[in-house]
Amino acid sequence: MVAAVLDALRPRPGGRYVDATVGGGGHAEAILQASSPDGFLYGCDRDASALEAAAQRLAPYAGRYELRQANFSELAGWIEGASCDGLLLDLGVSSMQLDRPERGFSFQAEEGPLDMRMDARQALTAADLVNNLDESELARIFRKYGEEPQARRMARGIVQARARERFRTTGELVKLIESLAPRSGKRHPATRVFQALRIAVNNEMEALSSALAAACTILKPGGRLAVITFHSVEDRIVKNFGREQTREYTFPGEVDVPELRQPRKAPMKWVHRKAIQPDESEVAENPRARSAQLRALEKT
Ligand SMILES: C[S@@+](CC[C@H](N)C(=O)[O-])C[C@H]1O[C@@H](n2cnc3c(N)ncnc32)[C@H](O)[C@@H]1O
Repeated sequence: MVAAVLDALRPRPGGRYVDATVGGGGHAEAILQASSPDGFLYGCDRDASALEAAAQRLAPYAGRYELRQANFSELAGWIEGASCDGLLLDLGVSSMQLDRPERGFSFQAEEGPLDMRMDARQALTAADLVNNLDESELARIFRKYGEEPQARRMARGIVQARARERFRTTGELVKLIESLAPRSGKRHPATRVFQALRIAVNNEMEALSSALAAACTILKPGGRLAVITFHSVEDRIVKNFGREQTREYTFPGEVDVPELRQPRKAPMKWVHRKAIQPDESEVAENPRARSAQLRALEKT
């Protein structure tokens, strides 16, 4: 999605940009290149090893970027208000994280610890959730963050199994899920449970809401926000945020009663109404991109 991101953010010389999910630095490098010779980039990631990789990749642009290990929920405390021309959020986990079994993100990689922390300084791991939450709380997480249709069944199976022996590895959890919901269709039966646990361990949805709120503060008028989502749970948050920001009225309370609407200038406008999806060649090159959706908004 690099071309689509550049198209949405339109980096230019002298501009200031934020890549709040810098990962291995692919998008950051493209933004620095496109804003040569003097565009500036703030990059952050929760993952220290991602930042090491990004620092290596971005070394040729020394002096034009600042990297820090941080949660993007803290952007508004780091970056000055109304100072940026573009902000990128490329959500979820990176291939670097998925491909390392010791990080515990993948149900497909070799067996690893049930970890799933993006920031290794954090105490809470996926094993803590799987071994300690009660059945209804596990079911709630699987439903809310994984949209798992068999959430209750999975939660009950986990609680019964852990009474015999606590879960330690990704492989143990995958084996249990496969015994509860045999494979059917393309999607592995553990996909949704793993997604839900990862989101819960990293408090991803709250962080996303804070970062979207920060976008309103740190972008200049005319500055753009580009968000790449990988599943419907996070895409819904971005869509709802966009709907709210592009509305030309406010209303008191939670319910939109037409008679009570107060007109206002919408704080943002959509760059394109529909989400952009990767083309076939991109998906062929990187199958993980198949569920990516890019949405972009411009501050008015
Ligand atoms: C899909 S990858 C980004 C890849 C990157 N755009 C590139 O070009 O290499 C997502 C990255 O976002 C990071 N991340 C996820 N949630 C975060 C948060 N709340 N704060 C900071 N970084 C986060 C992950 O650690 C991961 O490295």
